Amino acid sequence: AKTKISFLIEQYKDRVSTLPKHKSWINHNLYKYEGFWYHQGFWFHSNASFSIEVIMALQDEFQAQPSNVFLASHPKSGTTWLKALAFAIVNRAMLKNSTDSNTVHPLLTTSSHECVPFMETQSFLNNPYHANDLIATHLPYSLLPKSIISSNCRIVYICRNPKDVFISFWHFMDKLRDNLSPPIKLEDAFELFSRGVSPNGSCWDHVVGYRKASLERPDQVLFLFYEEMKKDPKNEVRKLAKFIGYPFSEEEDVDEEVEKIIELCSFEKLSKANKDAEETPKVIPNDVLFRKGEVGDSINYLTMEMVEILDKITLEKYDGLDISF
Ligand code: A3P
Repeated sequence: AKTKISFLIEQYKDRVSTLPKHKSWINHNLYKYEGFWYHQGFWFHSNASFSIEVIMALQDEFQAQPSNVFLASHPKSGTTWLKALAFAIVNRAMLKNSTDSNTVHPLLTTSSHECVPFMETQSFLNNPYHANDLIATHLPYSLLPKSIISSNCRIVYICRNPKDVFISFWHFMDKLRDNLSPPIKLEDAFELFSRGVSPNGSCWDHVVGYRKASLERPDQVLFLFYEEMKKDPKNEVRKLAKFIGYPFSEEEDVDEEVEKIIELCSFEKLSKANKDAEETPKVIPNDVLFRKGEVGDSINYLTMEMVEILDKITLEKYDGLDISF
């Protein structure tokens, strides 16, 4: 029998078909909804696939709980890492137990995308209230269901240099494309990305929405940088723990605890972990999720002209927002 939400999903399909369309980097169209572009149903597994009708249903139906903490990001900005860190912080008792008894921590057997689900998926919609308090989203701030804001939920946003986001995204999409789509030419992807026509884009507008919110509502929105997390992970992990309501206490050996969390969530550790996940098609394989995990790798791919164009857009878009790379 159809649930209320799945009934609504059918209704939303008609609305989606009226949205502006644009060709994407792969053989899928992008649709513009409330100022941002989305793929329709592009993912490994239909249950975990993102779709605009799910966003519409969430906007109408989702009731956030004040205890919910949202981990928000534009794709390829460090989502996987942020999810792992927040999950490890909230569940750090498991870390103690796993060291004591040699049992394996969930992050080593399960993808952090399973530990912290994206809200804009059919599977989340089917089961929104069984998830723990950590919920992830790639939705822009302006598209978040209103109850998230009115319930004063905390939101953590992770931002990354758009040049690295672009190169990471280009690799990612190229690895995920189906056999029907030819290899993605860097120039073609660049042309669309720099015009803001990319999945969840414009990348810059996505950042600006959360940045402004973090400046206006600093108690509700914590704004993190991928680059800062690489440079000073200890400081960023402490900041994150405090913000999400799991500060390190005096009784804990803070340095050791923080280091254990950083080590558990490191690129080296997680990229080699949960290989089993690759057997199940609903999660993205490790070699697609974890590529290099470095700052500034885009310089190895972009022409000087491309760098100039992206830097210029970044300067203009982030003007006055205290974001510099
Ligand atoms: P690169 O493609 O530049 O290597 P997202 O998780 O938002 O999809 O972002 C993916 C980017 O984060 C990829 O960047 C990936 O390698 C990097 N990444 C994933 N896990 C990481 C970790 N634990 N530490 C640092 N970077 C990580």
